[in-house]
Amino acid sequence: MFTKRHLISTRDFSKDEIDFLLSRAEELEKFARGREQGWGWGEGEGEREGEEESDLLKGKILANLFYEPSTRTRLSFETAMKRLGGEVLNLYSTETSSVTKGENLADTIRTVSGYCDAIVLRHPREGASRMAASLASVPVINAGDGAGQHPTQTLLDLYTLKKEGLLENLRIALVGDLKYGRTVHSLAYALALYGATLFFVSPEALRMPEEVKMDLRAAGTAEAEAAGAAGAGAGAGAEVFETSDLSAVVKEVDVLYVTRIQKERFPDPAEYRKVAGAYRVTRGLLKENEDLVIMHPLPRVDEIDAAVDGTKNARYFKQAFYGVPVRMAVLSTLLGAGGERRREGEEKQGASKNARGNRRNSGVGEEAPRTLRERTADDRERECYEQHGKDAARF
Ligand code: NCD
Repeated sequence: MFTKRHLISTRDFSKDEIDFLLSRAEELEKFARGREQGWGWGEGEGEREGEEESDLLKGKILANLFYEPSTRTRLSFETAMKRLGGEVLNLYSTETSSVTKGENLADTIRTVSGYCDAIVLRHPREGASRMAASLASVPVINAGDGAGQHPTQTLLDLYTLKKEGLLENLRIALVGDLKYGRTVHSLAYALALYGATLFFVSPEALRMPEEVKMDLRAAGTAEAEAAGAAGAGAGAGAEVFETSDLSAVVKEVDVLYVTRIQKERFPDPAEYRKVAGAYRVTRGLLKENEDLVIMHPLPRVDEIDAAVDGTKNARYFKQAFYGVPVRMAVLSTLLGAGGERRREGEEKQGASKNARGNRRNSGVGEEAPRTLRERTADDRERECYEQHGKDAARF
């Protein structure tokens, strides 16, 4: 079921499927640092001897197509692939490829499909990965499409929370640029599947888009359907609070998920200057809640003071490390090297009623009835796809 699927949005996956990928990441984490480095990330784990290298993806080739800058996503995909014995092709500078000669994304995708077993795509336009998936003959993994989605970042965020024992019924604040930040768009939906209470903290001008909020309610419905539940609370979706006052929520939450203001996505630089530096997490703020866990997808600009790095609260570098086991899990699963657990996961999913992922990825199945009439993130993505996707030359 997972094999040969695309990974475009967290909305394509059920909670069972996400749980499966997180378990798979746990199994593969022993290979993430290699034999010399030892096992895992810090806190004694690094003392443990590393395992033999894995050749799970031997003979497989991944193409990393990055039309926007990246450090962690591109490198951790590459590390994940190589630690499992696979190989990687990289297009990380559009200047050195035929993009600079005017080649459009559609032609690049059709061509690169013939050179590899999976494509990781980062592109400045929302909907680009969905368009690529419609043309590619190999799985496409969305590594960020403009202000749209960034599903593998969400998986590593969830993995970090799981390792902290915080995944279920979490109280979490998503802080910063909720309008243009694709990480929080993907994450909010997934957290809703795990019963989170969400505090959206942003300047007024950078609030979470309405369509993402709509889908949080749909997430509750989908999960309730999948569980066959009809009791109190089923279908209610996530509880959401919105504010621009960070200090007001610090005592209310277990986790602060801090994000960068996405300077490059502002049509008007003057608008960026109005909100730049809106939030800053300092050691002083941590005194308000000493157990607060601080996460950030990185890169940070100035929203987390460097003095926070050495505190017990900071998790962002560990979080970045978890990109390796999580992307190992994604790659091995999509490339059909998932082992026994994969088959168990398939059976489990087969019994699940949440058909969103199957519908969107296999092109078969019924459109799920939509009880909410407002525009959702699905609709927004479809509109982007229709607006730009058909006119492939625009990508
Ligand atoms: C994020 C991204 O590219 O969306 N970075 C990442 O992948 N870790 C966040 C950002 O750029 O602010």
